[in-house]
Amino acid sequence: MPRASRFLALLLMASAVVGCGGPTLDPEAERGRQVYLAQCTACHATDPAQAGPVGPPLKGSTRELLESKVLRGTYPPGYRPKRPTAVMPPQPQVANDIPALAAYLK
Ligand code: HEC
Repeated sequence: MPRASRFLALLLMASAVVGCGGPTLDPEAERGRQVYLAQCTACHATDPAQAGPVGPPLKGSTRELLESKVLRGTYPPGYRPKRPTAVMPPQPQVANDIPALAAYLK
């Protein structure tokens, strides 16, 4: 039934597009999302609002917090860390992408 399978293929394609779409991000946030997925999701959840296998949720992280924790392994003055541990190694490879990460996580 070629007609039916063509319809099925179309349906599949349509749902794939809808599934990946989600709310559209501005280019900066979209770049942040790519960096996040590539560099952070070994430990943090794919959905930054959730706790990951190792790391805490990151939704709402400010640029200041990202800069200190990701580049230096410290926290901004007065910040109360979500975890008392210091397991995360600094990630200097994303130094240029901090603004993009902040745009994505805010
Ligand atoms: C090797 C695992 C690992 C990787 C990779 C990793 N993290 Fe983390 N992250 C952690 C853990 C564990 C914590 C909890 C504090 C600690 O133990 O260092 C954390 C804490 C944080 C915090 C502080 C959260 C808070 O509010 O207290 C931020 C911000 C953060 N990570 C951002 C990132 C970003 C951005 C990346 C990717 C560039 C990343 N992390 C990659 C494991 C990781």
